[in-house]
Amino acid sequence: MSSVPFDQLDGQIWYNGAFVPWAEAKVHVLTHGLHYASAVFEGERAYGGEIFKLREHTDRLIESGRILGFEIPYDADTIDAACSELLRRQGFSDAYVRPIAWRGSESMGVSAQKNTINLAIAIWQWPSYFDPEQRMKGIRLDLAEYRRPDPRTAPSRAKAAGLYMICTISKHAAEAKGYADALMLDWRGRVAEATGANVFFVKDGVLHTPDPDCFLDGITRRTVIDLAKRRGYEVQVRAIMPEELEGFTECFLCGTAAEVTPVAEIGPYRFVPGDITRRLVEDYAAEVQPKRLAAE
Ligand SMILES: Cc1ncc(COP(=O)(O)O)c(C=O)c1O
Repeated sequence: MSSVPFDQLDGQIWYNGAFVPWAEAKVHVLTHGLHYASAVFEGERAYGGEIFKLREHTDRLIESGRILGFEIPYDADTIDAACSELLRRQGFSDAYVRPIAWRGSESMGVSAQKNTINLAIAIWQWPSYFDPEQRMKGIRLDLAEYRRPDPRTAPSRAKAAGLYMICTISKHAAEAKGYADALMLDWRGRVAEATGANVFFVKDGVLHTPDPDCFLDGITRRTVIDLAKRRGYEVQVRAIMPEELEGFTECFLCGTAAEVTPVAEIGPYRFVPGDITRRLVEDYAAEVQPKRLAAE
């Protein structure tokens, strides 16, 4: 990725219905979304000039806004068209797409009934890092101090900015100790997810992944479950306790940004990325390619 600061990249940003120069896409410091985390966003990837599962991401964005009590003032067709047109204008083939919706700056205070709802979309170049051998060595994860909250205390089905506060704290703490990321438990002490990706384990040829009842049910997670089933693998979606980590042989993370990333360590536990992980890394890489390219 570029070392140029993100607010100084080139190109355009789609901002409330218009394409504006990148550097001009700004908000005021008294933006409600900044003070009270009234913001929801998506993370999408384009491959070969097409955004993978764009409509699913757009639907989740709209639903995340509703969970936070607001209606994004654009319908799914308009948002999809804006993402695709922006990708075309930016001229990228493989890229990351970031739509974000937030409450504006018309009034300050917890209550913001009359504040406008804004939507912006930014796209930057992010080639899919795909050197299978390097990737197959696996990353190292710490165990996070913070836990994913009880859905009665946070809107856990939304991809809401506020839910990422503990992710950044946890990821920074892990990085300070030399780890790539951290595995978070949930409020009950069950295995939940990493700070920006879902987690899968393998034991005796069977995949195991936690039930996403208090964290994001990733679009990649659902894709990987489909791919695994197509391969004929059994997938158990269930509560997983941290003590079970000892018995798993393979582990990987998955998410739009992470794609399928093998894991070699979680705290004291060791995994050896094996055949099932390798197949799913490869199957996912094939699945995200536009069908028109696959047919060529
Ligand atoms: C906390 C968290 N969990 C899981 C995921 C995976 O979600 P998806 O596969 O929809 O990108 C992400 C990535 O967006 C995430 O940030």
